[in-house]
Amino acid sequence: KEGKRNLTLPLVMAVGTAVIGSLQFGYNTGVINAPQSIIEGFYNETWTNRYSESIPQNSLTTLWSISVAIFSVGGMLGSFSVGLFVNRFGRRNSMLMANVLAFVAAAFMGLSKLAASWETLIIGRFIVGLYSGLSTGFVPMYVGEISPTSLRGALGTLHQLGVVIGILVAQVIPCETNVRPVSSSIMGNASLWPLLLGFTAIPAVLQCVLLPFCPESPRYLLITCNEENKAQSVLTKLRGTEDVSADLQEMKEESQQMMREKTVTILELFRSPVYRQPIFIAIMLQLSQQLSGINAVFYYSTGIFERAGVAQPVYATIGAGVVNTAFTVVSLFVVERAGRRSLHLIGLLGMAGSAVLMTIALALLVKWMSYVSIIAIFCFVAFFEIGPGPIPWFIVAELFSQGPRPAAIAVAGFCNWSANFMVGMGFQYVEKLCGPYVFIIFTVLLLGFFAFTYFKVPETKGRTFDEIAAGFRQSAGQSSEKYSAPEELNTLGGADPPL
Ligand code: GLC
Repeated sequence: KEGKRNLTLPLVMAVGTAVIGSLQFGYNTGVINAPQSIIEGFYNETWTNRYSESIPQNSLTTLWSISVAIFSVGGMLGSFSVGLFVNRFGRRNSMLMANVLAFVAAAFMGLSKLAASWETLIIGRFIVGLYSGLSTGFVPMYVGEISPTSLRGALGTLHQLGVVIGILVAQVIPCETNVRPVSSSIMGNASLWPLLLGFTAIPAVLQCVLLPFCPESPRYLLITCNEENKAQSVLTKLRGTEDVSADLQEMKEESQQMMREKTVTILELFRSPVYRQPIFIAIMLQLSQQLSGINAVFYYSTGIFERAGVAQPVYATIGAGVVNTAFTVVSLFVVERAGRRSLHLIGLLGMAGSAVLMTIALALLVKWMSYVSIIAIFCFVAFFEIGPGPIPWFIVAELFSQGPRPAAIAVAGFCNWSANFMVGMGFQYVEKLCGPYVFIIFTVLLLGFFAFTYFKVPETKGRTFDEIAAGFRQSAGQSSEKYSAPEELNTLGGADPPL
């Protein structure tokens, strides 16, 4: 009831515009998958023109791996740089500025064929990785800061929804335009791939047009810039009511707390006992997202399905994209009721079960087992989106107050992207070593993360940023009387900092 009242048009528009950045991240995660062999053909052709011999297989594999993985390297750097922008230029303007990167990247990738240069493509992938890394910090931060407490989880999940829709679009467009290697040359279109990569400019245009109409984060205006009047007028618009005193009051409390805290650097995050527990939780949640093995599926599912004997692996991959999107929507609707903690736990356990099923399917290659493998991957993806997909992205903004938030988001994002890089680069090698048992590794990791979440992660649903931070302060031994409700102690776990 209260939630509905708070869902205003300006709020929806601001969140919708911000998550265009998430869409870009998803699109560029998925787009390189389908046209692999065609682009490899282009690499070969270019190599032949330059060196008058066809490209050695090793060099081709290396060039391709770099083209794929340089995206995560850009992501690592981008996410780590979030703190350089958000306090200096504001949240909204940072998002606006980042689009320069999207345009430059689109130009590099889109023109690489014309330039007969794989270097150009790789540079483009790196730059769009930078953009995506920044987005994975900017978007959850902005959305978390403009949302009312009762809708923070649901709206926070929209970041992930943007990502999964981006991935899905990237899986489906190549089918339509025949960029896929399997298709015959009805449209004669081995030449369309530069367009596919250059498409990233379109959402960038859209975001540049819409962002100027979106408000700056009121928390940034009040707490960081001390502009109470502006903050108030933005809040009035976002909440659709004149009476925003409760929101303002809460921010002021946070602001006072911050004056005691001062700005928090990355180093201080780890040194201070107050932040050590939440930053540890934030990092572990990011690792649980990536080391669950989800991107083994999104980068390599076609190959996995092939080895499991699936006849049309490409369609099974698209199926995974559809399931992925559908269950993100499910999470969106239940996250404010069920809470973050329980959904994350259910998701991790379900993924572990699906990974066991997948191992059985891969190990016992009986004919009908290929169907089991499809079911296993679909369940794996579905459980991922129930919790481990969306929650880690937005919970970091919830675990920290205004002062440490940018630094925390940078550290968490960096860990996420690094783990993403490791899985992306390492999976194929580990798979060669372990054969059908590769998913057992993920099962073990998933169970470990389940135990961690069970013992250490607090519920953040329905609590203000200030209350959450106070809970951590308290369990770090600096209790303030105001928040000493026994329930707080329960939900925030033991008093020992986990490090
Ligand atoms: C999350 C992950 C991303 C993954 C996606 C799959 O956003 O961060 O790496 O590809 O989910 O839906």
